Amino acid sequence: MKIHDAVLIPGDGIGPEVTAAVLKILDAAGAKFRWTERQAGVVSLEQEGSVLPESTLGAIRERKLALKGPCTTPIGGGFQSVNVQLRKAFNLYAAVRPVRSLPGVETRFKDVDLVIIRENTEGLYSGVENEVTPGVVMSMKVATEDGCTRIARWGFRYAMERQRPKVTVFHKANIMKLTDGLFLRCAQQIHEREYPDVTYETVIIDAGCMRLVQDPTQFHVLLMENLYGDVVSDLCAGLVGGLGVVPGANIGDDGAIFEAVHGSAPDIAGMDVANPLALLMSAVMMLNYVADAAHDPAARPVAARIRKAYDAALAAGEKTRDLGGRLGTAAFADAVIARL
Ligand code: NAI
Repeated sequence: MKIHDAVLIPGDGIGPEVTAAVLKILDAAGAKFRWTERQAGVVSLEQEGSVLPESTLGAIRERKLALKGPCTTPIGGGFQSVNVQLRKAFNLYAAVRPVRSLPGVETRFKDVDLVIIRENTEGLYSGVENEVTPGVVMSMKVATEDGCTRIARWGFRYAMERQRPKVTVFHKANIMKLTDGLFLRCAQQIHEREYPDVTYETVIIDAGCMRLVQDPTQFHVLLMENLYGDVVSDLCAGLVGGLGVVPGANIGDDGAIFEAVHGSAPDIAGMDVANPLALLMSAVMMLNYVADAAHDPAARPVAARIRKAYDAALAAGEKTRDLGGRLGTAAFADAVIARL
């Protein structure tokens, strides 16, 4: 593998624990990243006076690649989500979240293998909210033709390249006729003009959620706007074992940040019980990304080796508590390393 410069943001809550476990496994597997560590979130607010300081933004701007632990966002007030700010700052418009059944992780379904592609920069995450008059507040949902078209193109290209036979759009265009209507129209156009060979399906999101919990194997690529993608990601995580096993990538045309779907899990922070697998899987996605984006095919076998090792550890019952196992964060990392 070539050496790749990348930024490491440990985050807060369980972030530092899962990040340390993942770095240990990456090192043992021979992944060659030259890390520059930077802070974001409440940690950097305390240390540097900003949740997203220029030292962090500048480092990502230069390297165009980052692995990020979760960052806490205050509820119902306080600063704007660091995650949302980062995605907007670097135009990381495609959130990619693969959800698959794992060996040794008993769930209701055996063969789940789908990918959620979430629009990451628009929708209700515009952050434009105001108080119209005391007691009346509103939040603005934004959809642009450019934004909807680029995520649709990204989703269909992904399906085509990965030989996934069907793209399903979840929407609520029966109610949000303009915003979700635009999203649907753009997806339909990309399908007809550029990817007619990929099967295209549209489902109203409430019915889509019902179908997901009845039989998730009927879906291959789920394409949707920002808020729906956020909610459906956690729903899908529940189908395969929970938030400890679903990775994510935030990808733009000129860079990418890899992070798990889960948050900072303050309820278990500092206890050495968090599952590092979701962030590890995100790091595996990062290796496959540099194989393509940085023309380093040697990164791919490193990714495959890690994946094989954690599959084997899980199959042998070596799991963290959230999956019904007994291992702590660090012990699970050691179990994976033993199988590399
Ligand atoms: P959460 O994902 O942090 O936790 C939800 C539940 O899942 C908790 O019971 C937690 O213990 C469990 N869990 C999460 N990750 C786990 C892991 N790796 N291993 C074992 N169990 C795990 O969601 P919550 O509680 O809604 O949010 C907590 C904070 O995280 C909030 O401030 C939120 O804004 C932030 N957040 C940050 C994200 C990011 O940085 N990308 C994403 C989602 C939430």
